[in-house]
Amino acid sequence: MKKKITIGLGCLFLLALAACTEKSQSTDKKLETHVENLLAQMTLEEKIGQMNQISPWGEPTQIAEAVRKGEVGSILNVVDPVAINALQQVAMEESRLKIPLIIGRDVIHGFKTIFPIPLGQAASFDPQLVEAGARVAAIEAASVGVAWTFAPMIDIARDPRWGRIAESLGEDSYLTATLGAAMIRGFQGSDLSDPTAIAACPKHFVGYGAAEGGRDYASTFIPERTLRNVYLPPFEAAVREGAATFMTSFNDNDGVPSTGNRFILEQVLRKEWAFDGFVVSDWASVAEMIAHGFCKDGKEAAEKAVNAGVDMEMVSGLYVAHVKELLAEGKIRMETIDNAVRNILRVKFRLGLFEQSHIDTEAPSVFYAEAHLAKAKEAAVASAILLKNEGDFLPLTDQIKTIAVVGPMADAPHDQLGTWVFDGDKNYTRTPLKALQEEYGDRIRILYAPGTAYSRDRATDGIAAAVAIARQADVVLAFVGEEAILSGEAHSLADLNLQGAQSELIAAVAKTGTPVVTLVMAGRPLTIERDAEASRAVMYHFHPGTMGGPAIADLLFGKAVPGGKLPVTFPRTVGQIPIYHSHNNTGRPYQGNETLLDGIALEAGQTSLGNTSFYLDAGNDPLYPFGYGLSYTTFEYGNLSISADRLRPTDELTVTFEVTNTGKYDATEVAQLYVQDCFGSVTRPVKELKRFARVALKAGEKKTVSFTLPVQELAFYTIDMQKKVEPGDFNLWVGPNSRDGLQTTFVVE
Ligand code: NOJ
Repeated sequence: MKKKITIGLGCLFLLALAACTEKSQSTDKKLETHVENLLAQMTLEEKIGQMNQISPWGEPTQIAEAVRKGEVGSILNVVDPVAINALQQVAMEESRLKIPLIIGRDVIHGFKTIFPIPLGQAASFDPQLVEAGARVAAIEAASVGVAWTFAPMIDIARDPRWGRIAESLGEDSYLTATLGAAMIRGFQGSDLSDPTAIAACPKHFVGYGAAEGGRDYASTFIPERTLRNVYLPPFEAAVREGAATFMTSFNDNDGVPSTGNRFILEQVLRKEWAFDGFVVSDWASVAEMIAHGFCKDGKEAAEKAVNAGVDMEMVSGLYVAHVKELLAEGKIRMETIDNAVRNILRVKFRLGLFEQSHIDTEAPSVFYAEAHLAKAKEAAVASAILLKNEGDFLPLTDQIKTIAVVGPMADAPHDQLGTWVFDGDKNYTRTPLKALQEEYGDRIRILYAPGTAYSRDRATDGIAAAVAIARQADVVLAFVGEEAILSGEAHSLADLNLQGAQSELIAAVAKTGTPVVTLVMAGRPLTIERDAEASRAVMYHFHPGTMGGPAIADLLFGKAVPGGKLPVTFPRTVGQIPIYHSHNNTGRPYQGNETLLDGIALEAGQTSLGNTSFYLDAGNDPLYPFGYGLSYTTFEYGNLSISADRLRPTDELTVTFEVTNTGKYDATEVAQLYVQDCFGSVTRPVKELKRFARVALKAGEKKTVSFTLPVQELAFYTIDMQKKVEPGDFNLWVGPNSRDGLQTTFVVE
């Protein structure tokens, strides 16, 4: 059987960019007239009020009074629809100019129905599914009056010590740009004024993920070229997708905090990308410029933030306190204030808030709707990554009569939801233990002894009970990982081994001789080499959300086939960090065959090891490379061909190859295309992801896959900081991950 699929223009993100109309740059004259009319009526105090976002403080009556006086443009963290209606009513009926509030909330991977954390969703390499997840989140959040989410987080994350890697879409710029745009489409729907649409807020602009040492909020040192080649593209894609707002980041990059950075906010965002939505600071990040040592006091912080282009200030109140005086002193211009207010009003109009800011509290609830739970389960299935499957141990067969379920994550309804769950209710969580009992309990003996109570638990006295059930079972399912609180904002780790006594638990149950399947639920890549060695199979689930249990039960028994791929490289040990697939080469690249620590002869000569760039004790190879993930079936790649091997910068390259499902299961493979620009006016990454496609194949089926790659997409910021395609030699690979695949070459003339 042979079919041909072509990944055409419509499917491909960057081509889609070229084709798509620039939604956010709408020159809707009517809307602009509304904005100008309103602006013309506003007092300075009312303008400053629009630039002020608060989180509820004090008595509701005090807040209502501030809204009535026009001192507040936005409130975050109110989710009670009755309270939101009351506040909007004050704004719309009792304030002088009747400007609605924009209510913001961190709706990051679901509102009530919790989807896998963004890092997990990224493992699906499935823009449509990611979009659908954001749509569900928007529908649920909008139903209470939330009009604005602080997502997607599209920071490039290359350090798993950084707890916020959980909220990211991984290490790759192209994948992040593609999936970030999908999330924006999901949140904002086809029209922002739709009652189920909420404004997206790509964050954190910019560089936050490069925090030194993986310590949250730490400084970053990203040179302009790397900023433009790697960190900015997902944000540029977000602007083109029509993202309504942007959030600045906490970090200072090369000495300049983003919240006071004119270069990124004025030059890049407004001038180069023509963004016309509004920019909000991160939480108190205006005030934090004092702690950074960038401003001497709150007044200077307000001055620098406003002048850099931060239109709305999140919670520090410094605009309200100082902008009037700064204007009087000539340190801020009225035009700057007017532009900030224009940007904010424009988004409020686009959201349709002036027409419909009242929520029907009698409407039937959309929370945890069947369709939402089904989507969340689909996402949890698609996000699972099979890392090891020795002797095709999985899926489990009918031979299995007794299962020993161990580990602190087997029945952890709160922790499997992951970070950023402000509104999800753990009572709706379906855990793996419960799902297995419900679906297989009548046929299979399911024994349960967690071994340790929670992930950090160091007590080992529960391990004996786990060992005892392991002895009685045909298979041990070891559910380990991290509690939700160990990842996310401000939760960085220096040690990425399994916490507490979890590795001891795996070793102890493995020692019984009963095969162990390790299932990790975590917010980041963990260094699980020894745990994987002790296990027959390993499946990784970045915290899978509400429906993680049923998804895992289906995967274990082959009702679903794992197809997720790693959106981030897994190190063997923390010391290898940073480790990512698209690094530049050194003058002495690692060859992979160097002598490691134990092989070094005593008193070996200083240069006898070859002097390449690697760690004596860990080599350079990751535990699992970016893009890696197994299936229950096997895939073969073949017949790679390209449309031409000499191309001009205006040409398009067509890359064609076959993928065959050579195993026994119908399954989906994520085929990946990587390119290397072999030499340039500056050094270039050893590999860069340029395309991917999900290819569904029945057992035995073969399909021809075709990617179209305009040569222009090989452009990068060159030695003169211009974005150009440079002539020269290129390598190209197609394959199942960033390490393996078929290779060819071409030349750009
Ligand atoms: C701080 C976080 O960095 C940001 O991502 C979040 O949206 C805001 N707090 C609001 O909660």
